Amino acid sequence: MILGIETSCDDSCISLVKISNKKTLFHKKISQEQDHNVYGGVVPELASRLHAKFIPDLLQEIRHELPKIKAVAVTNEPGLILSLAQGLMAAKALAIELNVPIIPVHHLLGHLYSVFLDKESFFPLFGLIVSGGHTSIIGAKSYTDITEYASSMDDSIGESFDKLAKMLDLGYPGGPVVEKLAKNGNETTINFTVPLKNTKQIAFSYSGLKNAARLTIEQNTHSKEDICASFQKVCVEHLLNKCEIFFAKMRPKHFAIVGGVSANIYLRSKMINLCQKYKITPLFTDLSFATDNAAMIARAGVDAFLTNNFNKKTALEIEANSRKPFKRAI
Ligand code: KG4
Ligand code: ZN
Repeated sequence: MILGIETSCDDSCISLVKISNKKTLFHKKISQEQDHNVYGGVVPELASRLHAKFIPDLLQEIRHELPKIKAVAVTNEPGLILSLAQGLMAAKALAIELNVPIIPVHHLLGHLYSVFLDKESFFPLFGLIVSGGHTSIIGAKSYTDITEYASSMDDSIGESFDKLAKMLDLGYPGGPVVEKLAKNGNETTINFTVPLKNTKQIAFSYSGLKNAARLTIEQNTHSKEDICASFQKVCVEHLLNKCEIFFAKMRPKHFAIVGGVSANIYLRSKMINLCQKYKITPLFTDLSFATDNAAMIARAGVDAFLTNNFNKKTALEIEANSRKPFKRAI
Protein backbone atom coordinates (compact mmCIF):
# COMPACT_ATOMS: atom_id res chain seq x y z
CA MET A 1 0.00 0.00 0.00
CA ILE A 2 0.93 3.65 -0.39
CA LEU A 3 0.81 6.02 2.56
CA GLY A 4 -0.44 9.52 1.73
CA ILE A 5 0.25 12.62 3.81
CA GLU A 6 -1.46 15.97 3.20
CA THR A 7 -0.65 19.08 5.23
CA SER A 8 -0.66 21.87 2.64
CA CYS A 9 -3.07 24.10 4.55
CA ASP A 10 -5.10 23.55 7.72
CA ASP A 11 -6.09 19.89 7.49
CA SER A 12 -3.79 17.21 8.90
CA CYS A 13 -4.54 14.05 6.92
CA ILE A 14 -3.13 10.61 6.31
CA SER A 15 -4.41 7.77 4.17
CA LEU A 16 -3.54 4.27 3.01
CA VAL A 17 -4.42 3.19 -0.53
CA LYS A 18 -3.97 -0.34 -1.79
CA ILE A 19 -1.76 -0.51 -4.88
CA SER A 20 -3.42 -3.50 -6.56
CA ASN A 21 -7.06 -2.35 -6.55
CA LYS A 22 -6.70 1.38 -5.72
CA LYS A 23 -9.04 1.06 -2.73
CA THR A 24 -8.77 3.57 0.09
CA LEU A 25 -8.09 1.37 3.12
CA PHE A 26 -7.75 4.13 5.67
CA HIS A 27 -8.33 7.84 5.74
CA LYS A 28 -8.41 10.26 8.60
CA LYS A 29 -8.40 14.02 8.77
CA ILE A 30 -7.96 16.22 11.81
CA SER A 31 -9.39 19.54 10.80
CA GLN A 32 -7.97 22.67 12.39
CA GLU A 33 -11.01 24.77 11.44
CA GLN A 34 -12.01 25.46 15.02
CA ASP A 35 -8.49 26.58 15.91
CA HIS A 36 -8.34 29.10 13.06
CA ASN A 37 -11.98 30.18 13.26
CA VAL A 38 -11.28 32.67 16.07
CA TYR A 39 -8.83 34.51 13.79
CA GLY A 40 -11.21 34.59 10.79
CA GLY A 41 -8.72 32.73 8.57
CA VAL A 42 -5.76 30.37 8.59
CA VAL A 43 -2.78 31.43 10.73
CA PRO A 44 0.21 29.73 9.04
CA GLU A 45 2.37 29.28 12.11
CA LEU A 46 -0.49 27.85 14.14
CA ALA A 47 -1.31 25.47 11.26
CA SER A 48 2.28 24.27 11.23
CA ARG A 49 2.39 23.67 14.99
CA LEU A 50 -0.89 21.75 14.86
CA HIS A 51 0.35 19.55 12.00
CA ALA A 52 3.43 18.77 14.12
CA LYS A 53 1.06 17.61 16.85
CA PHE A 54 -1.58 15.81 14.77
CA ILE A 55 0.44 13.94 12.13
CA PRO A 56 2.27 11.76 14.69
CA ASP A 57 -1.08 11.10 16.43
CA LEU A 58 -2.56 9.93 13.13
CA LEU A 59 0.48 7.79 12.31
CA GLN A 60 0.10 6.04 15.69
CA GLU A 61 -3.27 4.76 14.48
CA ILE A 62 -1.75 2.92 11.52
CA ARG A 63 1.52 1.84 13.10
CA HIS A 64 0.75 -1.86 12.56
CA GLU A 65 0.40 -1.25 8.81
CA LEU A 66 3.73 0.54 8.42
CA PRO A 67 5.72 -2.56 7.32
CA LYS A 68 3.33 -2.98 4.35
CA ILE A 69 3.99 0.50 2.96
CA LYS A 70 5.83 0.56 -0.38
CA ALA A 71 6.19 4.35 -0.71
CA VAL A 72 5.18 7.57 1.04
CA ALA A 73 3.27 10.06 -1.11
CA VAL A 74 3.26 13.58 0.27
CA THR A 75 1.98 16.96 -0.92
CA ASN A 76 5.08 19.04 -1.61
CA GLU A 77 3.52 22.02 -3.43
CA PRO A 78 1.74 24.41 -3.55
CA GLY A 79 0.58 25.45 -0.09
CA LEU A 80 1.63 27.19 3.09
CA ILE A 81 5.35 26.65 3.33
CA LEU A 82 5.40 25.95 7.09
CA SER A 83 2.55 23.48 6.72
CA LEU A 84 4.07 21.67 3.74
CA ALA A 85 7.32 21.35 5.66
CA GLN A 86 5.63 19.40 8.47
CA GLY A 87 4.17 16.82 6.09
CA LEU A 88 7.41 16.52 4.21
CA MET A 89 9.46 16.06 7.37
CA ALA A 90 7.17 13.27 8.55
CA ALA A 91 7.35 11.65 5.10
CA LYS A 92 11.14 11.82 5.02
CA ALA A 93 11.49 10.32 8.49
CA LEU A 94 9.18 7.45 7.57
CA ALA A 95 10.86 6.88 4.21
CA ILE A 96 14.25 6.62 5.89
CA GLU A 97 12.98 4.31 8.61
CA LEU A 98 11.02 2.05 6.25
CA ASN A 99 13.60 2.28 3.45
CA VAL A 100 10.95 3.22 0.84
CA PRO A 101 10.84 6.08 -1.68
CA ILE A 102 9.06 9.40 -1.22
CA ILE A 103 6.65 10.45 -3.95
CA PRO A 104 6.09 14.22 -4.06
CA VAL A 105 2.53 15.00 -5.21
CA HIS A 106 1.39 18.35 -6.56
CA HIS A 107 -1.69 19.39 -4.59
CA LEU A 108 -3.76 20.26 -7.67
CA LEU A 109 -2.96 16.94 -9.33
CA GLY A 110 -4.06 15.39 -6.05
CA HIS A 111 -7.42 17.16 -6.28
CA LEU A 112 -7.84 15.92 -9.86
CA TYR A 113 -7.17 12.40 -8.60
CA SER A 114 -10.01 12.73 -6.08
CA VAL A 115 -12.34 11.54 -8.88
CA PHE A 116 -10.26 8.33 -9.18
CA LEU A 117 -10.58 7.21 -5.56
CA ASP A 118 -11.19 3.43 -5.41
CA LYS A 119 -11.06 3.36 -9.24
CA GLU A 120 -8.71 3.06 -12.18
CA SER A 121 -7.55 6.38 -13.60
CA PHE A 122 -7.93 7.39 -17.25
CA PHE A 123 -6.55 10.13 -19.45
CA PRO A 124 -6.95 12.61 -20.96
CA LEU A 125 -8.90 14.25 -18.20
CA PHE A 126 -9.87 17.91 -18.02
CA GLY A 127 -11.12 19.51 -14.87
CA LEU A 128 -12.04 22.59 -12.91
CA ILE A 129 -10.23 23.06 -9.62
CA VAL A 130 -12.12 25.29 -7.24
CA SER A 131 -10.52 25.58 -3.83
CA GLY A 132 -9.31 27.99 -1.20
CA GLY A 133 -6.06 28.49 -3.11
CA HIS A 134 -7.04 27.98 -6.75
CA THR A 135 -9.57 28.54 -9.47
CA SER A 136 -8.12 26.77 -12.49
CA ILE A 137 -8.99 24.68 -15.50
CA ILE A 138 -6.40 22.01 -16.10
CA GLY A 139 -6.01 19.11 -18.48
CA ALA A 140 -3.94 15.99 -17.83
CA LYS A 141 -2.83 13.83 -20.77
CA SER A 142 -1.01 11.57 -18.34
CA TYR A 143 0.26 11.63 -14.78
CA THR A 144 3.09 13.96 -15.79
CA ASP A 145 1.74 15.83 -18.81
CA ILE A 146 -0.45 18.54 -17.32
CA THR A 147 -1.51 21.84 -18.84
CA GLU A 148 -3.17 24.77 -17.10
CA TYR A 149 -5.72 26.40 -19.40
CA ALA A 150 -7.03 29.06 -17.06
CA SER A 151 -6.44 30.43 -13.61
CA SER A 152 -7.54 33.30 -11.42
CA MET A 153 -6.01 36.69 -12.03
CA ASP A 154 -6.49 37.57 -8.34
CA ASP A 155 -8.47 35.85 -5.55
CA SER A 156 -9.66 32.26 -5.75
CA ILE A 157 -13.34 31.38 -5.51
CA GLY A 158 -12.90 29.69 -2.11
CA GLU A 159 -11.09 32.73 -0.80
CA SER A 160 -13.96 34.94 -1.94
CA PHE A 161 -16.49 32.78 -0.06
CA ASP A 162 -14.22 32.97 3.00
CA LYS A 163 -13.88 36.74 2.73
CA LEU A 164 -17.64 37.25 2.34
CA ALA A 165 -18.20 35.10 5.44
CA LYS A 166 -15.66 37.14 7.35
CA MET A 167 -17.36 40.42 6.37
CA LEU A 168 -20.70 38.96 7.50
CA ASP A 169 -19.23 37.60 10.77
CA LEU A 170 -20.02 34.02 9.82
CA GLY A 171 -16.69 32.45 10.82
CA TYR A 172 -14.16 30.34 8.91
CA PRO A 173 -14.28 28.48 6.54
CA GLY A 174 -16.88 30.55 4.75
CA GLY A 175 -17.98 28.26 1.93
CA PRO A 176 -20.22 25.85 3.85
CA VAL A 177 -21.92 28.56 5.92
CA VAL A 178 -22.47 30.85 2.90
CA GLU A 179 -24.02 27.90 1.06
CA LYS A 180 -26.26 27.16 4.04
CA LEU A 181 -27.53 30.73 4.38
CA ALA A 182 -27.93 31.03 0.60
CA LYS A 183 -30.57 28.27 0.72
CA ASN A 184 -32.88 30.62 2.61
CA GLY A 185 -32.07 33.68 0.54
CA ASN A 186 -33.30 35.18 -2.71
CA GLU A 187 -30.52 35.07 -5.28
CA THR A 188 -32.10 37.75 -7.45
CA THR A 189 -32.11 40.48 -4.78
CA ILE A 190 -28.69 41.91 -5.55
CA ASN A 191 -27.37 42.19 -9.09
CA PHE A 192 -23.65 41.68 -8.62
CA THR A 193 -21.78 42.16 -11.90
CA VAL A 194 -20.49 38.90 -13.37
CA PRO A 195 -16.68 39.23 -13.71
CA LEU A 196 -15.08 39.17 -17.20
CA LYS A 197 -18.48 38.67 -18.78
CA ASN A 198 -17.86 40.51 -22.01
CA THR A 199 -14.65 38.80 -22.94
CA LYS A 200 -13.99 35.42 -24.49
CA GLN A 201 -10.82 35.17 -22.43
CA ILE A 202 -10.83 32.06 -20.25
CA ALA A 203 -9.68 33.42 -16.91
CA PHE A 204 -11.17 34.05 -13.51
CA SER A 205 -11.35 37.09 -11.27
CA TYR A 206 -12.98 37.33 -7.86
CA SER A 207 -11.48 40.40 -6.20
CA GLY A 208 -13.98 42.87 -7.72
CA LEU A 209 -16.86 40.83 -6.34
CA LYS A 210 -15.40 41.06 -2.86
CA ASN A 211 -15.45 44.86 -3.05
CA ALA A 212 -18.98 44.88 -4.45
CA ALA A 213 -20.05 42.65 -1.55
CA ARG A 214 -18.36 44.94 0.97
CA LEU A 215 -20.23 47.97 -0.39
CA THR A 216 -23.53 46.07 -0.26
CA ILE A 217 -22.90 44.98 3.33
CA GLU A 218 -22.08 48.57 4.35
CA GLN A 219 -25.46 49.72 2.99
CA ASN A 220 -27.07 47.49 5.60
CA THR A 221 -30.25 47.05 3.55
CA HIS A 222 -30.12 43.36 2.71
CA SER A 223 -30.34 40.21 4.80
CA LYS A 224 -27.28 37.96 5.14
CA GLU A 225 -29.25 35.21 3.41
CA ASP A 226 -29.99 37.37 0.35
CA ILE A 227 -26.38 38.55 0.15
CA CYS A 228 -25.09 34.96 0.37
CA ALA A 229 -27.55 33.71 -2.26
CA SER A 230 -26.81 36.56 -4.70
CA PHE A 231 -23.07 36.22 -4.14
CA GLN A 232 -23.08 32.44 -4.62
CA LYS A 233 -25.12 32.86 -7.81
CA VAL A 234 -22.66 35.28 -9.40
CA CYS A 235 -19.60 33.27 -8.29
CA VAL A 236 -21.01 30.18 -9.95
CA GLU A 237 -22.25 32.05 -13.04
CA HIS A 238 -18.71 33.30 -13.59
CA LEU A 239 -17.39 29.72 -13.48
CA LEU A 240 -20.11 28.50 -15.83
CA ASN A 241 -19.44 31.26 -18.38
CA LYS A 242 -15.77 30.41 -18.59
CA CYS A 243 -16.30 26.64 -18.54
CA GLU A 244 -18.79 27.03 -21.39
CA ILE A 245 -16.21 28.80 -23.57
CA PHE A 246 -13.75 26.05 -22.68
CA PHE A 247 -16.26 23.28 -23.49
CA ALA A 248 -17.14 24.81 -26.87
CA LYS A 249 -13.46 25.03 -27.76
CA MET A 250 -12.07 21.80 -26.34
CA ARG A 251 -15.12 19.48 -26.37
CA PRO A 252 -13.89 17.22 -23.53
CA LYS A 253 -15.66 13.89 -23.02
CA HIS A 254 -15.31 14.02 -19.26
CA PHE A 255 -14.90 16.96 -16.94
CA ALA A 256 -13.87 16.74 -13.29
CA ILE A 257 -15.11 19.35 -10.82
CA VAL A 258 -12.86 19.13 -7.77
CA GLY A 259 -11.49 21.04 -4.78
CA GLY A 260 -13.13 22.31 -1.60
CA VAL A 261 -15.70 24.50 -3.35
CA SER A 262 -16.90 21.50 -5.38
CA ALA A 263 -18.62 20.41 -2.16
CA ASN A 264 -21.13 23.16 -2.98
CA ILE A 265 -24.37 21.50 -4.10
CA TYR A 266 -25.62 24.58 -5.97
CA LEU A 267 -22.38 24.58 -8.02
CA ARG A 268 -22.65 20.83 -8.63
CA SER A 269 -26.20 21.07 -9.98
CA LYS A 270 -25.36 23.99 -12.30
CA MET A 271 -22.25 22.20 -13.60
CA ILE A 272 -24.28 19.04 -14.26
CA ASN A 273 -26.71 21.09 -16.38
CA LEU A 274 -23.93 22.75 -18.34
CA CYS A 275 -22.19 19.41 -18.95
CA GLN A 276 -25.46 17.93 -20.20
CA LYS A 277 -25.74 20.71 -22.76
CA TYR A 278 -22.32 19.77 -24.17
CA LYS A 279 -22.78 15.98 -23.73
CA ILE A 280 -19.92 15.87 -21.25
CA THR A 281 -19.80 13.42 -18.34
CA PRO A 282 -19.20 15.44 -15.17
CA LEU A 283 -17.04 13.74 -12.54
CA PHE A 284 -17.23 14.56 -8.85
CA THR A 285 -15.81 12.99 -5.74
CA ASP A 286 -17.76 12.08 -2.61
CA LEU A 287 -18.59 15.24 -0.67
CA SER A 288 -16.22 14.25 2.13
CA PHE A 289 -13.26 14.06 -0.30
CA ALA A 290 -13.93 17.40 -2.04
CA THR A 291 -11.94 19.35 0.54
CA ASP A 292 -8.31 18.57 1.32
CA ASN A 293 -7.61 14.94 2.13
CA ALA A 294 -4.75 12.45 1.94
CA ALA A 295 -6.65 9.76 0.04
CA MET A 296 -6.32 11.75 -3.20
CA ILE A 297 -2.59 12.20 -2.53
CA ALA A 298 -2.07 8.50 -1.86
CA ARG A 299 -4.20 7.62 -4.92
CA ALA A 300 -2.05 9.86 -7.15
CA GLY A 301 0.98 8.27 -5.45
CA VAL A 302 -0.19 4.82 -6.56
CA ASP A 303 -0.07 5.89 -10.23
CA ALA A 304 3.32 7.52 -9.75
CA PHE A 305 4.60 4.36 -8.08
CA LEU A 306 3.26 2.02 -10.76
CA THR A 307 4.65 4.10 -13.63
CA ASN A 308 7.84 4.94 -11.77
CA ASN A 309 7.05 8.61 -12.28
CA PHE A 310 8.85 10.17 -9.43
CA ASN A 311 12.25 11.60 -9.05
CA LYS A 312 13.93 11.06 -5.73
CA LYS A 313 15.75 14.35 -5.99
CA THR A 314 12.59 16.47 -6.29
CA ALA A 315 11.29 14.88 -3.11
CA LEU A 316 13.63 17.12 -1.23
CA GLU A 317 12.08 20.30 -2.57
CA ILE A 318 9.10 22.15 -1.21
CA GLU A 319 7.53 24.97 -3.15
CA ALA A 320 4.86 27.27 -1.82
CA ASN A 321 3.66 28.74 -5.11
CA SER A 322 5.24 26.57 -7.72
CA ARG A 323 3.54 25.90 -11.03
CA LYS A 324 6.46 23.78 -12.17
CA PRO A 325 4.70 20.61 -13.29
CA PHE A 326 2.16 22.47 -15.37
CA LYS A 327 2.58 23.89 -18.84
CA ARG A 328 0.64 27.01 -19.68
CA ALA A 329 -1.81 26.62 -22.53
CA ILE A 330 -1.07 28.99 -25.37
O1 KG4 B 1 -9.56 22.21 -1.34
P1 KG4 B 1 -9.66 22.90 -0.03
O2 KG4 B 1 -10.03 22.07 1.17
O3 KG4 B 1 -8.30 23.62 0.34
C1 KG4 B 1 -7.49 24.24 -0.60
O4 KG4 B 1 -6.79 23.52 -1.36
O5 KG4 B 1 -7.54 25.48 -0.65
O6 KG4 B 1 -10.69 24.10 -0.19
C2 KG4 B 1 -11.06 24.90 0.89
C3 KG4 B 1 -12.05 25.95 0.40
C4 KG4 B 1 -12.38 27.01 1.44
O7 KG4 B 1 -12.23 28.29 0.86
C5 KG4 B 1 -13.83 26.73 1.78
O8 KG4 B 1 -14.57 27.88 2.15
C6 KG4 B 1 -14.34 26.13 0.47
O9 KG4 B 1 -13.29 25.32 0.02
N1 KG4 B 1 -15.56 25.33 0.63
C7 KG4 B 1 -16.74 25.63 0.08
C8 KG4 B 1 -17.66 24.65 0.53
N2 KG4 B 1 -16.99 23.78 1.33
C9 KG4 B 1 -15.70 24.20 1.38
N3 KG4 B 1 -17.11 26.65 -0.73
C10 KG4 B 1 -18.40 26.71 -1.11
N4 KG4 B 1 -19.34 25.82 -0.71
C11 KG4 B 1 -19.01 24.78 0.08
N5 KG4 B 1 -19.95 23.91 0.47
ZN1 ZN C 1 -6.93 21.74 -1.75
